[in-house]
Amino acid sequence: PTKPPVVFHWIPFLGSTIVYGREPFKFFEDCQKKRASGADRSQYGDVFTFILLGKPTTVCLGASGNNFVLNGKHRELSAEEVYSPLTTPVFGTDVVFDCPNEKFIQQKRFVKFGLTADAFRSYVDLIALETEEFIAKRSELQGTNGILDVPPAMAELTIYTASRSLQGKEVRAQFDSTIADLFHDLDMGFTPINFMLPWAPLPRNRARDRAHKKMAQVYMEIIQQRRLQGGKKETDTEDMIWNLMGCKYKDGQPIPDKEIAHMMIALLLGGHHSSSATISYAMLQMASNPAIVEELYAEQVRVLGPGDAPLTYEGLQKLTLLAFTVKETLRLHNPVHSIMRQVKVPLFMEGTPYVIPPSHVVMASPASSARDPQYFPEPMTWNPHRWEAVKREDIDDNNDDEEEEDNTKGLTGKGSNSPYLPFGGGRHRCIGERFAYIQLGVILALFVRNFKIKNVAGVKGTPETDFSVSCPFFLYVYAFQSNA
Ligand code: HEM
Repeated sequence: PTKPPVVFHWIPFLGSTIVYGREPFKFFEDCQKKRASGADRSQYGDVFTFILLGKPTTVCLGASGNNFVLNGKHRELSAEEVYSPLTTPVFGTDVVFDCPNEKFIQQKRFVKFGLTADAFRSYVDLIALETEEFIAKRSELQGTNGILDVPPAMAELTIYTASRSLQGKEVRAQFDSTIADLFHDLDMGFTPINFMLPWAPLPRNRARDRAHKKMAQVYMEIIQQRRLQGGKKETDTEDMIWNLMGCKYKDGQPIPDKEIAHMMIALLLGGHHSSSATISYAMLQMASNPAIVEELYAEQVRVLGPGDAPLTYEGLQKLTLLAFTVKETLRLHNPVHSIMRQVKVPLFMEGTPYVIPPSHVVMASPASSARDPQYFPEPMTWNPHRWEAVKREDIDDNNDDEEEEDNTKGLTGKGSNSPYLPFGGGRHRCIGERFAYIQLGVILALFVRNFKIKNVAGVKGTPETDFSVSCPFFLYVYAFQSNA
């Protein structure tokens, strides 16, 4: 069996780690064009192996690469073996990647139960309220004009809005005091080196472990307090803790409090950077494209009526250009640049001569295929209107509900066989998509309603992401220039 070509490197263990880490998209593109040495002189093309911190990592590009990695069977490809060292110390035990995948699939289903239209209706109100309070309080946003440093401001607002809605009022109240510091210390656990050395006795890891214990305690106290008050009352708003407190595993057992706490931490941390990075980029792109901001404003007036009518769940669904704005931002600035799985059995890759051995990790990058001119003309231009022309069946964004099944749709050319998969696909598909669309939609709509957004003088265009400060799993967009 032939193995995929290996990207040339000088230093054995380090391999291409640094080039990949600095500019993953450029690295993929360069390798794709390179010629393999030796007998096989064909180009590397869409499938090649590079060394990532000692690990042979086979990159599978394009729509078929996405499908190969995302639609793999669980006995063939394991996500938990790759991600668990990073996530388990942060999220805690017995949830997500620290339990058999069948159990995690039940946990994902529980979360979905909680994301009903009714819950979303109340989330829209709460997110809007929190955004309006934020706008009213921020000194930069008072008066006739001001300069806002977008990424840190959006990181803060994302936390407030997600905690107020999904996490519940007690968590939001404690974000003004205890939880903000705990969140920060936990978040520091998502550092790339922890893929390899998660338990190294470094101050950062000790702070992470302390923060995890305290955070889990905070959630368990909330749960116990809620039980003491005699369960959910008419006046209590929907949130994920109430939902999980009412769920039972297939064997009839309720979810232990500790697992609820760990799942809540996973939702808080797992959804934060992706949402906050996407909304920052949407704002920065809007600042570079003031004409779109005008159109978005006109859309609100046309669809919802003039004035300050409250934004509702139903109203939000009708704002098509706003949805395209989020969709386009997720195309060009997808916050997850690499998706990885550990290969468990030798895998023949259809359409190629290659067999990928079990010592390898496979890597897909829907973020990279979403920037490929083969699929998207002028891919580097941020243009929400491009989605008006796209037929759904041409760019299937896999907006279905089937991640828990062995997804066979991929074989028929649908499902994960798509260049546009910002929320992944197959059994590990994101469950936060609708929540993210709602959160992003409400925040953007309210900024469009309240402000004319443009770049500060001298800033042209939207900065590219500085990957050197990012984690290879979630891309942390900390390194923006300040825009207004
Ligand atoms: C999985 C993207 C927001 C919870 C994923 C995956 C992607 C993704 C690409 C698949 C990872 C893989 O296959 O390895 C995003 C983006 C978001 C977002 C772009 C926002 C713009 C959220 C939010 C939550 C969330 C808000 C929680 C409320 C999850 C969970 C998984 C997941 C639980 C499942 C992992 C699995 O089954 O292995 N997300 N996500 N995400 N996401 Fe999101």
